[in-house]
Parts: sequence; structure tokens; C-alpha cells
Amino acid sequence: MENFIAYNPTKLYFGNNVINNLPTEIEKLGQKVLLLTGKGSVKKYGYYDQVIQQLKNAGKQIVEFSGIKPNPIVEDADKAVSLAHSEKIDFIVALGGGSVIDTAKLVNMAYANNLPVWSIMKKEVNPETKVPLFAILTLAATGTEMNGAAVLQNHQTNEKIGYFSPLMYPTASFLDPSYTLTVPKSQTINGIVDLVAHSLEAYFSGGDAPLSDRFVASIILETMDYAPKLLNNLNNYDLRARMMWAATVAENGTTMHGRTTNGDWGTHDLAHHISLLWDTPHGQTLSVIFPAWMKALKPRIEKRLEKLGFLLTGKNITADETIGLIENFFIQIEAPTHFKELGLNNNDKNQLLKLWKTNKPTGLNHILDEKDYHKIIANI
Ligand code: NZQ
Ligand code: ZN
Repeated sequence: MENFIAYNPTKLYFGNNVINNLPTEIEKLGQKVLLLTGKGSVKKYGYYDQVIQQLKNAGKQIVEFSGIKPNPIVEDADKAVSLAHSEKIDFIVALGGGSVIDTAKLVNMAYANNLPVWSIMKKEVNPETKVPLFAILTLAATGTEMNGAAVLQNHQTNEKIGYFSPLMYPTASFLDPSYTLTVPKSQTINGIVDLVAHSLEAYFSGGDAPLSDRFVASIILETMDYAPKLLNNLNNYDLRARMMWAATVAENGTTMHGRTTNGDWGTHDLAHHISLLWDTPHGQTLSVIFPAWMKALKPRIEKRLEKLGFLLTGKNITADETIGLIENFFIQIEAPTHFKELGLNNNDKNQLLKLWKTNKPTGLNHILDEKDYHKIIANI
């Protein structure tokens, strides 16, 4: 096992009505809160009203920035930072899915340190401080509620990249599974794929970390159990709760300890280019790329695939059978597993390949080169 630091400062409130704890968390903070939201689902389904009520109960003055889009863009983050400066806000509340919370994390870094958002993302500058950030999650998928990562797109530079800082862990996060009852089936599928992909990204890091491997297998087995039931019963609180906790644990450090890198992330890097080019939902890009990546890299990861197969089935199965197990699960939950299911054609494939060759996406453990890109593109 490799040396590691276990660090996760986010206080997590989980369960029905946890939003009632928000006033206690913020009572000692300054008066002005910047409230960030997405395109409107939180207003439509009433979560917004509940949060406004809690902020008012705490006697806070609310400055709002709404309209953050899925696959969030740097321009929106910049606009929110300007608003934060002009209003001199004291802390931030993000209400939404990964896109809203990720944007809030970077707004925090840029505002508190008076730095440009994209310079932070490109690691040209180093944030040293933050204001308190509270995340109220409405969609189980990314794990952003309990990690220090955020992802943004920049169409000027043609990049979708992630940034990590220990300063970006939310101060506290509020996870009420009933807030996710309204997530449509397609978006629920995307979230299931994302949390399985995060478990696999952890697994395909290097080194020998047997307990972390077992955590990965447990999350995937748990997901294979609740996911089909949930997709037939989207209104079920307990199934939503199981998914919400699985998504958090899949990306809060639990599965990473003892490995050579904090995950591989090659498939994410490749997949982000599909979102960048066609605004495809994150989960759909992963269910297409992950099976293709495993097939292309099989000679390098054969033993790891066999071990994963054993952990998932209790039987000695082959690397191909393990890939089949994951791919069939994606098919079973009606996630796309081929490029054409995204409504894209061969010309689009060429465009994707060209962008990969320019931006050179790679894993931290499994370094990718142009030959790999060709193999992967042939498999999607
Ligand atoms: O914009 P609104 O109107 O809020 O609607 C959203 C959006 O259309 C909707 N939605 C959210 N909660 C809902 C709901 N609809 C009904 N009921 C609710 N309760 O769902 C749509 C998708 O929302 P989004 O926030 O984009 O989804 P997700 O949470 O999957 O976030 C995706 C983003 O996170 C990044 C992805 O790359 C992508 O940009 N990631 C962040 C990570 C992290 N910070 O650790 C890791 C991930 O690998 C990922 O890269
Ligand atoms: Zn992801």
C-alpha cells in the first residue's frame, strides 16, 4: 500500500429535512450570501423556496446568480465572481447538481483570492483562502458535495478540465434524497453511470490497495442492486437515498487510499471532449467511453480486470467477461454505449479524434498516446 493522507473536512448532513440545519451552520457568518442555482429546476420543484426560507430565518441578505448550465462554462463563473465582488458577499450557498456546485467552488476561489477563474483552472496562480461554501445537492452523481474538485468548460480555449484544491471542499453539504425525487429518468441514468465510472477510475489507479478495491466493488454491487429497481420506481425515497450515498462515497476519497495516484481519470479526460464539442451530458459520455477504454487497454489491465470480475461475481471470470459485465449493466439501465447512440456520426468521430490529438487527454496512471486514441475511437 502507498503512503496516503486521509483528509475530508466537509460536514455532511444526510436525510429527510436536513435543510433545517442550514440556519445553525450559517448563523455566525456575515450577512450577505451569494445563492447560486441552475436553469430553473429548483424553482419549479420548490427546493428554492425552502432554501430561501431557511436563509431568511437566519436573517441573511440574499444575492442571487441563476442560470448556470449543465456542463458549466467559465463565462458564468466569471459573471458570478463580478457579482460577488460588487456585492461584497460573505459566504456562498450552491443549490443544484454538480454543475452549480462546481461553479460555486471556483467562484469561491476567484472571489476570495481576487484571481481570474481560468488562471486558477490552469494552475497559473494559487488560491490561498476561501469563504465558507454550503452545497445543497439536488442530483446524485458527481460526488462534488464531498470533494475538492470542480470541472469547467472554456470554448475559447477548447477545453473542459478539472481543478482540485483542498480549499474547495464544501464547508457543509446537505443531502436530502427527497430533493432528488424529481430527477428525470435520463438524468438518473447519467448519475448512475457517473458514480460507477468514478469507482472504476479509482480502481484503475496503480499500486496494491485491497481494501480500496473492495470499497470499489461494494459500491458497484450496491449500485447494480438498487439501480434497476430505482429506474422502475423513481419516486422511491429509500432507493434515491441509496443512490445518493453511493454517489458521494464513490468520489469522496474512500476508494482512493493506498493507491499510486488519486484515480486514473483517463476516461473522464477523453469523455470531457464529447461534452465540450456537443454538450453531451457527462454520464452519457462515460457509458460510451469506459467500455471502449477497457477494451483498448485490455493488454495493460488484464489482471486488474480479472480481479474486478472476481470481486463482483465471486468467480474466476476473464477480463473480457468483466468488461461485458460493466457494459451489459450500462445497457441494462439504458445508458448509451456507442457513439451513434449519442446522435453522432463518423465525421463527428474524426472531429473528436482531432481534438484528442490536440489536447492530449490522458490518465494519471495509464498514460494515453495517439495509438490508444485510435484504438478507443474504433471501439465507440
Ligand atoms: O439546471 P437545472 O434546471 O437545475 O436542471 C438540472 C440539469 O438540467 C437537472 N436537475 C438537477 N437537479 C434536479 C434536476 N432536475 C430535476 N430535479 C432535480 N432535483 O439536471 C440536469 C443536470 O444537472 P448537472 O448539475 O449538470 O448534473 P451533474 O450533477 O451530473 O453535474 C455534471 C457536471 O459535473 C462535472 C461534470 O463534468 C459536469 O460538468 N463533474 C464534476 C465532478 C466533481 N466536481 O467531482 C466529477 C465528475 O466526474 C464530473 O466531471
Ligand atoms: Zn464523472
